[in-house]
Amino acid sequence: MRRQFLTVGLFIAVGTLVEAVVETYDYIVVGSGPGGAPLAVNLARAGYSVALLEAGIDLGDNKNYSEIFNFNAAANDEKSRWDFFVKHSDDEAREAKYEKSTWRTADGSFYVGLDPPEGSTRLGIYYPRAATLGGCAMHNGGICTLPNDADWDYIAEITGDDGWLASNMRKYFEKMEANEYLPLDTPGHGYDGYVNTTISDPSLMNQNSDLQKLASRLISRVGGNAGRDINAPDPDRDQATGVFGMATHADRNGKRAGTNTLLKRTLADPAKFNLTVQLETLVTRIIINWEAGEPSATGVEVLRGSHQYEADPLYDTAKQGKFGRIFARKEVIVAGGSFNSPQILKLSGIGPAKELEKFHIPVVKDLAGVGENLGDNYEAGLQSLASKPLNGSAGPVAVFLKTPTARKTRNIQAWCGSFSFEGFWPGFPTDYGPTEYECAVVHINPRSQAGHVRLRSNDPREMPEINFNFFAKGGDEDLTEILDAVKTFRKALNSAGAPITPFDERHPCPGVNQNCTDKAQKEFIKLQTYSHHATSTCAIGPADDPKAVLDSKFRVHGVGNLRVVDASAFPKVPGAFPVCPTFMLAEKASADILAAAEIAE
Ligand SMILES: Cc1cc2nc3c(=O)[nH]c(=O)nc-3n(C[C@H](O)[C@H](O)[C@H](O)COP(=O)(O)OP(=O)(O)OC[C@H]3O[C@@H](n4cnc5c(N)ncnc54)[C@H](O)[C@@H]3O)c2cc1C
Ligand SMILES: *[C@@H]1O[C@H](CO)[C@@H](O)[C@H](O)[C@H]1NC(C)=O
Ligand SMILES: *[C@@H]1O[C@H](CO)[C@@H](O)[C@H](O)[C@H]1NC(C)=O
Ligand SMILES: *[C@@H]1O[C@H](CO)[C@@H](O)[C@H](O)[C@H]1NC(C)=O
Ligand SMILES: *[C@@H]1O[C@H](CO)[C@@H](O)[C@H](O)[C@H]1NC(C)=O
Ligand SMILES: *[C@@H]1O[C@H](CO)[C@@H](O)[C@H](O)[C@H]1NC(C)=O
Repeated sequence: MRRQFLTVGLFIAVGTLVEAVVETYDYIVVGSGPGGAPLAVNLARAGYSVALLEAGIDLGDNKNYSEIFNFNAAANDEKSRWDFFVKHSDDEAREAKYEKSTWRTADGSFYVGLDPPEGSTRLGIYYPRAATLGGCAMHNGGICTLPNDADWDYIAEITGDDGWLASNMRKYFEKMEANEYLPLDTPGHGYDGYVNTTISDPSLMNQNSDLQKLASRLISRVGGNAGRDINAPDPDRDQATGVFGMATHADRNGKRAGTNTLLKRTLADPAKFNLTVQLETLVTRIIINWEAGEPSATGVEVLRGSHQYEADPLYDTAKQGKFGRIFARKEVIVAGGSFNSPQILKLSGIGPAKELEKFHIPVVKDLAGVGENLGDNYEAGLQSLASKPLNGSAGPVAVFLKTPTARKTRNIQAWCGSFSFEGFWPGFPTDYGPTEYECAVVHINPRSQAGHVRLRSNDPREMPEINFNFFAKGGDEDLTEILDAVKTFRKALNSAGAPITPFDERHPCPGVNQNCTDKAQKEFIKLQTYSHHATSTCAIGPADDPKAVLDSKFRVHGVGNLRVVDASAFPKVPGAFPVCPTFMLAEKASADILAAAEIAE
């Protein structure tokens, strides 16, 4: 770490000479996830000095993180965990029925379920996040799927910025990808980027095994094949349904690729780019300067130390880190993710004035959309136990569906295989043994994005209040679409016949008869839906849209030298899996910021 030391003078009151550290970089990037990491690297590679500030530590060499198949262990690992607890609605009775509700017991441990021991406090619905070098791309499942083209074109349409058109965004995908599953020079793909992509070996489908049989039942019902390219630049891809290979951001040896590997490679580059990564650095506030008559970001305030944030399992309110300030000659770019970016803006006086005033935060810019518009993919699963242990080594397959009530584009992405995924709670998931089979369903384009991230205090160490307000609008339609997907999968699986069937379904219609009413199944899905793709709390949109926080080039409306570049910037939840879209968004932001810097010089 390079530092400049300046002696600032005498404090008359105490009469001692104090030494203050003044650190100044061209750019400050807050957060090293899929938004922040590629951006910081691109700016440094373009010749600028960049400070990348990350609250967590580096776990890139730890096998929980470097081996993609350990993703569940990673998400449960205390070393990176930020434990958020959220609500799905304001309806207490509905919340109380969430089967995986998490409680803090009197002895300080977690209890998960509906019947907590006496003296427990309900924490809410567990929502994991990774605070570590690389962000949630270090503990996620790694599924890399581009959204429907319509999702990109929508951003171009609301902003008039053609850079957002799917045809242009594809260039960023080609730049960042290092494809390992297609022949070299397949159109629409890249081979020299940092996001290695692979699919599970489709030749495993040639075995005579139970898993192969179930996959082929799916294929005969919905079409496609296990080797089909899920990210092909098919002009009609928004309508393409059926089975595809499931691409993940890992290489053929199962090594996780992305944020952390990119940062490590850049720091080790003999070209010695001027990138300074500061770990265990919690950004608490953006420093605002009013000299130009308009507010403008000039730096950040930080707390340096371990476990500074309340979501950290080892948080200790008494152990406050060391206060510091870091300055930016050009810009501050916030990339703390969909929960933390709006929190950082609000703590800095950028957000809904009423909310800020409630916590005595001086208003810098009254911006109603900060922390609002929170959306997520609704998720549910057809979770079943077969009549026999399922043999075979075929990996999960991805499936796209367009159910009868879909709007213009395909509306469901799922993955089917021998696993169980029923949402999140401390210690997830449940292992039901070798008979388990699931089609995990991700709904695309929720009709409602009525959630919010709001402050609970002006203490930057405290977690905000997060309420997804699921199904607030068009809920019944969305539930119908999810149920239709479940029914399609159920039919396909049941057609496998003995000895695999009958399936003993766990949910949404428990038992071997599976004769629940639609109403009962929708009610189950509504109450037990889960999610982990939060976006849109600092949404891009025109300045006259009360929900909009950023312009099309990620600049915060009404505040100079300040941008937000992470999943919070998407005005709508992108597709079914946000991580690769966020990598692409970071590439666009890099291009926008570098273009602006060139003009300024
Ligand atoms: C368990 C899990 C599994 C997932 N699986 C998939 C998947 O298979 N496919 C997919 O597409 N998506 C998946 N996702 C979602 C995906 O990983 C996220 O959408 C993506 O990582 C978002 O990137 P981001 O840059 O917006 O934020 P994040 O990845 O959250 O990164 C934000 C970073 O900022 C740091 N930070 C936050 N606040 C501060 C602060 N005040 N000061 C300093 N640093 C700060 C955090 O520590 C973190 O490192 C998954 C998410 C989870 C939680
Ligand atoms: C890197 O950036 C820092 C901060 O701006 C500066 O002090 C330092 O001189 C730079 N180093 C090089 C090698 O350019
Ligand atoms: C991996 O994570 C688990 C928790 O899921 C933890 O118990 C274990 O110690 C971690 N392993 C390493 C090598 O850090
Ligand atoms: C798996 O089990 C099926 C019966 O369900 C059997 O026909 C098949 O030979 C087995 N395959 C392997 C690879 O063990
Ligand atoms: C990804 O691919 C590059 C070459 O393109 C290779 O050097 C690297 O080891 C691969 N794996 C990871 C995890 O980056
Ligand atoms: C539904 O299943 C239950 C047992 O799980 C059975 O008692 C009932 O008769 C079934 N109803 C129909 C309509 O098949």
